[in-house]
Amino acid sequence: MPGSETLNQRLHEISGGTVLDIATGKGDFAARMAENLRDYDHILGIDLQHDRLVQAVAKHDYANLSFVRMDASRIALADRSVDTLAMAYSFHHMDDVAPTFREIKRVTRPGAAIMFVECYRYDDRDQPIGVQLHHWWAAIDRRAGVTHNDTWTRAEILERVNQLNLSDMTVFDIDLVQDELDSAEEREQIERVFDEYPHRIAGHPDYERLKEEGERLRQALREQGLSWSPDVVIIGRR
Ligand SMILES: C[S@@+](CC[C@H](N)C(=O)[O-])C[C@H]1O[C@@H](n2cnc3c(N)ncnc32)[C@H](O)[C@@H]1O
Repeated sequence: MPGSETLNQRLHEISGGTVLDIATGKGDFAARMAENLRDYDHILGIDLQHDRLVQAVAKHDYANLSFVRMDASRIALADRSVDTLAMAYSFHHMDDVAPTFREIKRVTRPGAAIMFVECYRYDDRDQPIGVQLHHWWAAIDRRAGVTHNDTWTRAEILERVNQLNLSDMTVFDIDLVQDELDSAEEREQIERVFDEYPHRIAGHPDYERLKEEGERLRQALREQGLSWSPDVVIIGRR
């Protein structure tokens, strides 16, 4: 996958020291850092949702990798105590990123490596099916009371990160992946999403409309296969 290998190479160049993974979810990016950083002392993954952290612990078993429930807008770490900080796929999962960015500035030491990986939507053309599917999920999540916004545009993400005034900043994309959904297992998995996900908001005034939107996406997927959204990677130094 173009871009993905570049990200791993960039991680190989970083001695992690004390590493913080913000909004770690099931810990996949934290594990990627454990796998690819040149070395590190400790990686801490933080997330608001306890059940995600339970999954992260079950899924990833690396030395000196731990997960704690913590709000990214109120990080219980000392000023300038973090050498490497990451936030992956989470801009659009936050009510407001401003308090998190204030905390990022506070907890990182000068010279710390800071990286963001984020999927984005296009602002100049139709969205690939993967983005439409993602926004459909997000619309259902919101109606179920979970913060999940539409993905940001690449320009919006860059504009936000630029406010950190990082030095040595590199920006590259992990390209859109055309997945043919060729394994029966994958097909079944995605069919189950269309069958089950809308039930989370059964009885909601938008239930029927979103269920119908799901059926439209199901048909489009069957005909065209799944193309996911591109990701942008931004790495710099504090
Ligand atoms: C898409 S998931 C993150 C995926 C993960 N970083 C990875 O790469 O696998 C988004 C996560 O953001 C978390 N989140 C949203 N707001 C947060 C906050 N204020 N503090 C900590 N976590 C937050 C959600 O609980 C959710 O687990």
